[in-house]
Amino acid sequence: MITLKEILAGTEKGYAIGNFNVHNMEYVQGVVEAAEAAQSPVIIAITERPLKYYGIDYLINTVKAAEKNCSVPLCLHLDHGDNLDIVFKCIEAGFSSVMYDGSHLPIEENIANTKKVVEKAAEYGIYPEAELGKLQGIEDGKESTESALTDPEEAKRFVDETGIAVLAVAVGTAHGFYDGEPKLDFERLKAIREKVEVPLVLHGGSGVPAKSVKKAIDIGISKVNVGTELKVAFNQGIKGVWEENPDEIECTAIMGAAREGIKNKVIEKIDLFRSNL
Ligand code: 13P
Repeated sequence: MITLKEILAGTEKGYAIGNFNVHNMEYVQGVVEAAEAAQSPVIIAITERPLKYYGIDYLINTVKAAEKNCSVPLCLHLDHGDNLDIVFKCIEAGFSSVMYDGSHLPIEENIANTKKVVEKAAEYGIYPEAELGKLQGIEDGKESTESALTDPEEAKRFVDETGIAVLAVAVGTAHGFYDGEPKLDFERLKAIREKVEVPLVLHGGSGVPAKSVKKAIDIGISKVNVGTELKVAFNQGIKGVWEENPDEIECTAIMGAAREGIKNKVIEKIDLFRSNL
């Protein structure tokens, strides 16, 4: 497993790496099978809720097992760690990347905590992502009704003062699906790109029209996070099995269809993000 900095190196050439949020073994297998089929590096992202539910060891070892059958680079990333405890735990447990999300805090506190994460991560040779600005919607079961777009000047200050390697920005996307078409603030994204040198991340990638995703990547987004669309693909796989045969009880048939759903969706996103090797 490689670091976020390593996996994002080269994205300035006009592509982005997919951050795919996973929950269990079938998710991990689906993402890795897609990465292998499409010959693309991928970021396997996990939030706190599945970590608590499955246990950190089960999930890390699932990814390590998947890595053995994989010829493309993988990065194991903690997504939206909103407290230092979980971030430090994942660093110590062997994640190759973490995101600290202090976007719910006043900027001074966000900076102070992010600095602590950068220091701790450096001891393990990893390069964290952090967020400035707020996205609306539901992520990891937590709802945020507030939205605050990232200010380009503040973004520069945040990166300079914390020393983070990767910055998540708020430019009009949200977590979850949208009512109508999301309007991305491309001018703001351009301004941030000009002020800040580190790779930029677009969270809330589900339901954003392909043309907007492409434009964001052309402006300088290096990593696109996708969660909700994978949940839907997983569930549709299972529903499809029972629509065809309501009496199906074999776990491999049911979960196999869910895994196939994840694989197909991830291949579609890799094509959109142009990250094929
Ligand atoms: P979506 O669920 O909207 O795809 O967002 C995922 C995300 O940003 C995870 O960090």
